[in-house]
Amino acid sequence: MKEQLDNILKEAQDSYYHIKNLKDLENFRIKFLGRNGLLASLSSKFKDFPLEVRKEIGQYFNFVKEEINNLYLSKKEFLITQKKIFFDLSHPGEKIEKGRIHLISKEILKIKKIFSNLGFNIEEGRELVSEKENFDLLNIPPNHPSRDLWDTFWINKKEYLLRTHTSAHQVEYLLKYKPPVKFIVIGKVYRHEATDQRHEMQFHQIEGVSVGLQSNLSELKSVFQIFFENYFNKKIEIVFRNSYFPFTEPSLEVDISCVICKGKGCSLCKKSGYLEIAGAGMIHPYVLQQAKININKYYGYAFGIGLERIIMLKFNIPDVRLFHSMDLRFINQF
Ligand code: PHE
Repeated sequence: MKEQLDNILKEAQDSYYHIKNLKDLENFRIKFLGRNGLLASLSSKFKDFPLEVRKEIGQYFNFVKEEINNLYLSKKEFLITQKKIFFDLSHPGEKIEKGRIHLISKEILKIKKIFSNLGFNIEEGRELVSEKENFDLLNIPPNHPSRDLWDTFWINKKEYLLRTHTSAHQVEYLLKYKPPVKFIVIGKVYRHEATDQRHEMQFHQIEGVSVGLQSNLSELKSVFQIFFENYFNKKIEIVFRNSYFPFTEPSLEVDISCVICKGKGCSLCKKSGYLEIAGAGMIHPYVLQQAKININKYYGYAFGIGLERIIMLKFNIPDVRLFHSMDLRFINQF
């Protein structure tokens, strides 16, 4: 009897490896564990044995039955999970988190497109520049009080610094291209100052430079008009005001009509109807000379626009710190 049970177990173990699908599995169950299966037919012979032998054989019988049942269950689980993975199309998939392009990067792409349609070359420069590039070449000598306009992150005992403005690349690209030329430099700048709703230590600027036979303030005004109307997708009025920068003469502060109230006065523009949007001016002859440009022949204008500021106006974003807050509720809206 024990030998017969061993043979059945061995046969079950062998056929276990040949079970390929649920149908094979069911045949396996019927053959070994079914009501008329091999085990059941053996158990019917128990009554022929004396009681003591019956007890011993009974235990062994139960052991074999359990072994075969375990084989059955483990194959069943394997086949079902395999079926789920490969065949159950209705089985819900795992959610995959997708990243997306940050709002600032998206807007940079749009801005580059508008300026490149206006004939500007697109540049990015470097974030680490020399003192000479950021200040001296721009008519801001050492110890000049106007250096205080830019709170600077110095590196290596004042040799290098994190650019405080994209103007740091004006001379570099004028030397590279030679006039007549138009280019923008768009990228991160750094200022060592306290942060609040409208100020961050790190932000972006769009620097525009045009040098040519007729690069003048009326062309600058048209460039602003076309750029802002394209960017905000509405009619915009441009206003120039007097200002001061060491590297432009005359220097201007540029206002646009308020994007919300269109000049009537609201809380965004503090009832003035206008928003400060850029610094600009005719490039100072000193700067043109640093770029080896003949100042009797060529004129140039330059401007600097704060990128976060115009994105905040376009999307009605109340606090500049949200851009780098890593708050997905903010980022995922765009
Ligand atoms: N670089 C100036 C700033 O950061 C802006 C500016 C650029 C002004 C070009 C005039 C011309 O404030």
